[in-house]
Amino acid sequence: MKRTLEEHAARFDEKAGEYDDSKSEEYHACANLVVEHAAPAADEVVLDLATGTGAIALAVAPDADRVVGRDISDGMLEEAREKAADAGLENVSFGHGTFREPDYDGPVDIVTSNFALHHLSDEEKREAIAVIADLEPRRFVLGDVMFFGEPDPDEPFYSPEVDDPATVGVLADAFTDAGFSLTAVERVHDQVGVLVAERSPTAGVDAATEEP
Ligand SMILES: C[S@@+](CC[C@H](N)C(=O)[O-])C[C@H]1O[C@@H](n2cnc3c(N)ncnc32)[C@H](O)[C@@H]1O
Repeated sequence: MKRTLEEHAARFDEKAGEYDDSKSEEYHACANLVVEHAAPAADEVVLDLATGTGAIALAVAPDADRVVGRDISDGMLEEAREKAADAGLENVSFGHGTFREPDYDGPVDIVTSNFALHHLSDEEKREAIAVIADLEPRRFVLGDVMFFGEPDPDEPFYSPEVDDPATVGVLADAFTDAGFSLTAVERVHDQVGVLVAERSPTAGVDAATEEP
């Protein structure tokens, strides 16, 4: 990570009030795909990591049983809570948690995350994906800045001084190493995409009982 958690939280605290006002076409396309692929059933729990002002959490809430949002920025979480109250959504809760320490130990069927994992280094992304696998969701939908080819330095979708996006290959390897199977890859832009990973309910058991 090119900034500490506290520094990232402070950056987003500062922009929380205006965060929703200045989003790119690619951001909206990516968020829509995350929501479309999350597709929770009415009895399922969704965990939205780095939920920000709740773009994904609030969009999937009407279809899910319960949605839990986690973030490191109190300012962003406050915006998310206000939006949930304004929308009359009572099955969504927001609290502090990080990718690698989500501070959630309840049941989870689907994990989502949009436009945030790129704040972590590739090694930290691998750790985060392993932590998510340990929560045993059946699906993980990741929308983010990610490189499908060589990034165009004249058209960056990220700030190189604070962000650290991965290639699609690095993310795909991290998913499979954590026991997920990649079931969809959506390219929104050369630097923006959505990966859908599924985990069979027995993935953890198989790994634990495998013969040497
Ligand atoms: C660009 S915003 C995306 C917010 C939201 N997911 C969306 O789609 O609009 C990135 C969010 O990631 C959060 N964040 C950054 N690093 C994090 C970490 N290590 N763990 C959890 N949240 C983090 C920030 O506080 C911020 O709210």
